[in-house]
Amino acid sequence: MKSPDISNNTMVVVENLNVIFGDNHIVHDVSFRVEEGEIIGMFGISGAGKTTIIRVLTCQIEKKNWNGNVLVTSLSPSKRGNHSKILSNIGYVPQLELLNLYFELDPITNVKVFTSTYGMDKKEAKITAEKLFNILDIPKDTWKKRVKRMSGGEKKRLSMAIGLIHHPKVLFLDEPTTGVDASKRYDILSYLKKLNQQLNTTMFIITHDLEAALICDKTAILMEGKLLEFDTPQNLINSLPSKGLVARISIENLSQDIIKTIQKYPSIEKVIRVGNETIEVFMECFEDNLPKLMKFLFENNIEIKSMSRDIANFRRYFQIRIQEEEEKENEKNRYDSINECDRP
Ligand SMILES: Nc1ncnc2c1ncn2[C@@H]1O[C@H](COP(=O)(O)OP(=O)(O)O)[C@@H](O)[C@H]1O
Ligand SMILES: [Mg+2]
Repeated sequence: MKSPDISNNTMVVVENLNVIFGDNHIVHDVSFRVEEGEIIGMFGISGAGKTTIIRVLTCQIEKKNWNGNVLVTSLSPSKRGNHSKILSNIGYVPQLELLNLYFELDPITNVKVFTSTYGMDKKEAKITAEKLFNILDIPKDTWKKRVKRMSGGEKKRLSMAIGLIHHPKVLFLDEPTTGVDASKRYDILSYLKKLNQQLNTTMFIITHDLEAALICDKTAILMEGKLLEFDTPQNLINSLPSKGLVARISIENLSQDIIKTIQKYPSIEKVIRVGNETIEVFMECFEDNLPKLMKFLFENNIEIKSMSRDIANFRRYFQIRIQEEEEKENEKNRYDSINECDRP
């Protein structure tokens, strides 16, 4: 195997990863690398391959099902002999916390069970547990109560503490905010950021929650097993026309015909319908062209109810990028079916 050129600070290397289960090619040629202390957000609609990639990195998929060059803390999961060392270097917080917690035991006993499997010193384990419980605001009066009596949010945080108990270099979290109240989701994200800053732990966060991009250094966007993008959220937003500047316009009796008329106006890059009467318009040379567009709408008797300018966030970027990919895919299918018809 070719040894990639990596520095001491490189925590994860993935080069040309393919995952294949029988006839199903699940992950296609995915490559990226992650440096120490980075938070990586993995985004993509259900079935995109996010969990599968993490399962390769956490030694949960047999080598016969994948190929490519993968290093986790400089060790390849392709060799069985590396697994125990990799597992001691990483932490894993599964999507369902019942998978890494014993509900009949209290938090402190849960910690004891996990630390004994890592052969950690008992005193050190207790000190680390108390430190993590404090950072994660796990109330002291729950430390000796059965886990099943804790609230949903407390269980999630305890599950994170367990994932971090052995000072892993890299922590993998599969959907840490799924099933958590909207108001608590931000709390979980800020706890993760706090842990990352205080412990310098590199993190992978798989999530449907596009707001999570706010705490990520890099975001990976996956679709049907392909990595569409891997970059800082800001760089991705900056790649939009006029660096993501957008006019949000509400129009009386908005129709497809009106949208088509606007799309034809020179300098318009993209028009997205974001509500019954509202569109967002991206255009080149935004500042120069916005007044001209307003004039054009007026001249065409398109009645503007309101207009505001905004800057696209990661959520909007994600929607645009996925839509673009779907359009490309539709175009390709159309082309393929025309060619099919032409065949004798
Ligand atoms: N062991 C397996 N055998 C066959 N197909 C699988 C297996 N594991 C996952 N898949 C398929 O791979 C695709 C990606 O799954 P997954 O990685 O769980 O997606 P995500 O986490 O992005 O929702 C899905 O279509 C899923 O059904
Ligand atoms: Mg998943």
